[in-house]
Amino acid sequence: MKTYKIACLPGDGIGPEVILEGRKVLESVSSGFKIDWLDLPYSGAHYLKTGELVPKEALDAMARCAAIYLGAIGHPDIKPGIVEKEILLKIRFHFDQYVNLRPVKLYEGVKSPLAEPGNIDFTVIRENTEDFYVGIGGKFKEGTKDESAFQIGVMTYKGCERIARYAFEFARKHKKTKVTLVDKANVLSHIYSLWRRVFEEVAAGYPNIERNYAYVDAMTQWLVRKPSDYQVVLAPNMFGDIITDLAAAIQGGMGVAAGANINPDGLSMFEPIHGSAPKHAGKNIINPIAAILSGKLMLETLGEQKAADKIEKAVVKLLKDGKVRTYDLGGTSKTSEVGDAVAAITERL
Ligand code: IPM
Ligand code: MN
Repeated sequence: MKTYKIACLPGDGIGPEVILEGRKVLESVSSGFKIDWLDLPYSGAHYLKTGELVPKEALDAMARCAAIYLGAIGHPDIKPGIVEKEILLKIRFHFDQYVNLRPVKLYEGVKSPLAEPGNIDFTVIRENTEDFYVGIGGKFKEGTKDESAFQIGVMTYKGCERIARYAFEFARKHKKTKVTLVDKANVLSHIYSLWRRVFEEVAAGYPNIERNYAYVDAMTQWLVRKPSDYQVVLAPNMFGDIITDLAAAIQGGMGVAAGANINPDGLSMFEPIHGSAPKHAGKNIINPIAAILSGKLMLETLGEQKAADKIEKAVVKLLKDGKVRTYDLGGTSKTSEVGDAVAAITERL
C-alpha cells in the first residue's frame, strides 16, 4: 500500500489539540494509503525548555517526508519574532514554499459577521518567500536619540513570475475566470511595478482569464463590501498576510480558515492560519476545522483527491447540520467532539 511519511509539528498552545483532530480525520479517510507520522517537537515551548529551534538534522528529516503538517507556533513567554522567524518562516524559506494558498469559503451553516455576505468563495494566493519577509534590514545608533531602523522589501523577477504563473494555472484548473492582483503600486512603486509588469507578462498567456487590480487599502474595504466579487486573489507576502486575516473573519473566523505553504516541485507544509491562542490552550474548546481542512489541502497536494474530497464533504455536512460545533460557531461542542464527528461522517461516505 502507498505510504506517505508526514512530518508533524503540533507546535504550541492549541496546536497539539487541533492537530490531534486533524490526524484523526486524516486517518479516517486513509483506506487506500497509509500515513507514517514523523513526530517533531519543534515549538516555542521546546525552545524554552532546550534552547533549540529547528536543527539542521530536523530539516533533513523533513526533506525525506512527503509533506509537513503543522499546528501553530508562538509562545507568550518568548519575545515576538524569534520562533516565528526561526521555526515557521525558516521552514517556509528552507523548502522554498513560495505559494501560500488560503481558500476562503463561507460554508452553509456558518455565520459571517457581514450582514449580506453573498456567496464567498475565493482563494488567496499569497507570495510566500519575498517582499518584506526577506529579513533584510538593520538598526544603527541603537539606544540613542538618533536610533534608526530600516527594513527592505525585495521582489525578484523569478519570484513574481512563478507565483503569477501559479495563480493563473490555479484559475485555469479550477475553472475560475478572473484573477485579482493586490499591491500598493501607487506608492511602493519600485517593488510593485516589477510585480505588476511580470503579472502582465504572465497574464498575456491566459487570454481567457480576466485580470483586475486592487490597491491593498481598497481591497480591505471591498472584501467587506463585496467579497462575492473575487475568485482568485494574488497578493504579495505582507499584504497577503493582512488580507487573509480579514478574509478568515468574513468566512466565519480563524476556526475555519485553512492554509498551505506549497512548493509545487518540492516539499509543502500545511497549517491552519490561526496562531497558538495560548489563553485557550488545554481546554479542548478550540475549533479544529481549520486544521482538518488544512489536512484536506495536504491530501489534495499529495494527489489523494478522493480522500481530500471526503474530508471537505464531511465538514460541509457537519457545518450544515449545525449540531456539533465549537463556541466560535455558536455551539458548545468540544474540539475532540468535532474531530470525532467529522471522522464518523467520512466513514459513511
Ligand atoms: C501567518 C502568520 C505568520 C506570517 C507569522 C506567524 C510569521 O501570521 O501565517 O499568517 O506572518 O506569515
Ligand atoms: Mn498572518
